[in-house]
Amino acid sequence: MKIHLKKRNIQICSLIVLMFMLVILMNHSHTEEDDLVDNMRFADVKVTPVETNEYLNVVDYDYVDNFQSLLKNSREIVHNTAHGKCKERRSFVFIKTMKCGTQTLVNMFRRFVYLRHLNFMLPRLDKIYLGWPYTINEHDFRPSKKQFDGLLEHSVYNRTVMKKFIRKDAAYITIIREPFSHFKSSFNYFNVGNISLVQESDHISGYLQNLDKYETFYKSPEGARLRYCIPDGFSVTKNLLSNCLGMPLGFPPGRENIEADDTLIREYIKQLDADFDLVMIMEYFHESLILLKRIMCWSFEDLLYQTSNVGTYKSKNASTSVKNLNIYKKWSQADYILYNYFNATFWKKISNEGKDFHEEVTEFSDVQAKVTSFCQTNGTKEALVINAARFTDEFVVHKDFCIMQQVDLSVYLKTRYERIEGWKEDEEYTKKYPLKTC
Ligand SMILES: *[C@@H]1O[C@H](CO)[C@@H](O)[C@H](O)[C@H]1NC(C)=O
Ligand SMILES: *[C@@H]1O[C@H](CO)[C@@H](O)[C@H](O)[C@H]1NC(C)=O
Ligand SMILES: *[C@@H]1O[C@H](CO)[C@@H](O)[C@H](O)[C@H]1NC(C)=O
Ligand SMILES: *[C@@H]1O[C@H](CO)[C@@H](O)[C@H](O)[C@H]1NC(C)=O
Ligand SMILES: *[C@@H]1O[C@H](CO)[C@@H](O)[C@H](O)[C@H]1NC(C)=O
Repeated sequence: MKIHLKKRNIQICSLIVLMFMLVILMNHSHTEEDDLVDNMRFADVKVTPVETNEYLNVVDYDYVDNFQSLLKNSREIVHNTAHGKCKERRSFVFIKTMKCGTQTLVNMFRRFVYLRHLNFMLPRLDKIYLGWPYTINEHDFRPSKKQFDGLLEHSVYNRTVMKKFIRKDAAYITIIREPFSHFKSSFNYFNVGNISLVQESDHISGYLQNLDKYETFYKSPEGARLRYCIPDGFSVTKNLLSNCLGMPLGFPPGRENIEADDTLIREYIKQLDADFDLVMIMEYFHESLILLKRIMCWSFEDLLYQTSNVGTYKSKNASTSVKNLNIYKKWSQADYILYNYFNATFWKKISNEGKDFHEEVTEFSDVQAKVTSFCQTNGTKEALVINAARFTDEFVVHKDFCIMQQVDLSVYLKTRYERIEGWKEDEEYTKKYPLKTC
């Protein structure tokens, strides 16, 4: 009996250790997310990842306010712009669509939230999603005594929940991408070819030309042991953008599915257009940032980014044959309607911005390139001065800023949350509101 018990304990312990290791592995693979640059027009923003992560060793994750000198404590920031003065907006909801260069944006947004002490929804425990790919519900985030200023972690848009818990003046923002290039990127990231056991040597063509067979297997319980964080029945190749934006597409099983109904799809998109202040387009990344800047009254400093996880993979080059394209257009019809709709409104917005819009894009690209280069060099210079120009006041970039671009600020935000809210999830809470996803 005793021996039996001991054996059991050992088994349980090994299981826990194994699960722990798995979680670490998975988290690691997730930092590899997103490949922003493929398809980007700006050659100068292609960043070679820093070879060493020596900065990371310097950062003490337990000390929350490592970046004291960079914190922006003033209650209100007013910027002078080419179009007059404006007050910085701080409240926003960012819907992080999968595989649209969003990790780069999330890092930028997290920095903004961190530096201003904003109260944003955070995933529970060590999770990374706010319920994704399920529509966010009231228990998918850590509770707060105050109203939330916003949300930026992975979640599926749900107007009801977001309007209820987040400030009314929040801006709603998301980003989308040309659907076929999005498909190739997702196909690679979610390892669809291997998990679906695609036989053909050209995985993309094989998959697209035998969709029923391979998609069914990928989504099945048999495919589950190879998938990471994707529940049974959820498609990572079909209308993934629309799914992230909350369109009812039959997931979870039992939910309404409007994928075959053009009219309903267009109605849903119209509603999104009314709800969202900005839908960025990945192919026009800097234009998207400048639109964001103008809508939010932010500064160039707020927009600076470091590209994360630029993917190079075989399927990136894959045959974009007319045959494949046509199959995919049918398969992901909602995403095509969505993309074409918002690509059109995007350019309409830009044309309403006036002639100096493009000048601002150029000026920002120049500043971004300078900062990228500064952060990559290990030189003696401790600071980079960005001179005042038509669209920016003077500001200084310190090495601390470069360091901050490399750390995972979600850890800081969670630590700060625990200190401020004095709330930590216990077993009882977890049992009461079980976690569905990663
Ligand atoms: C959105 O959230 C509300 C409130 O929790 C919930 O009743 C509704 O079912 C959610 N929508 C979806 C599509 O899950
Ligand atoms: C898919 O499987 C092939 C052959 O086993 C392997 O070489 C490749 O690395 C796998 N790809 C991924 C993304 O795991
Ligand atoms: C991708 O295509 C380019 C030319 O179009 C070629 O030079 C390159 O070798 C290809 N890469 C892969 C991984 O097939
Ligand atoms: C987006 O819209 C612009 C302007 O109408 C157009 O030139 C471009 O081809 C569109 N992009 C895609 C990928 O459809
Ligand atoms: C950067 O500087 C540090 C210390 O000043 C040095 O240890 C490191 O080797 C340098 N790295 C590169 C890539 O030059």
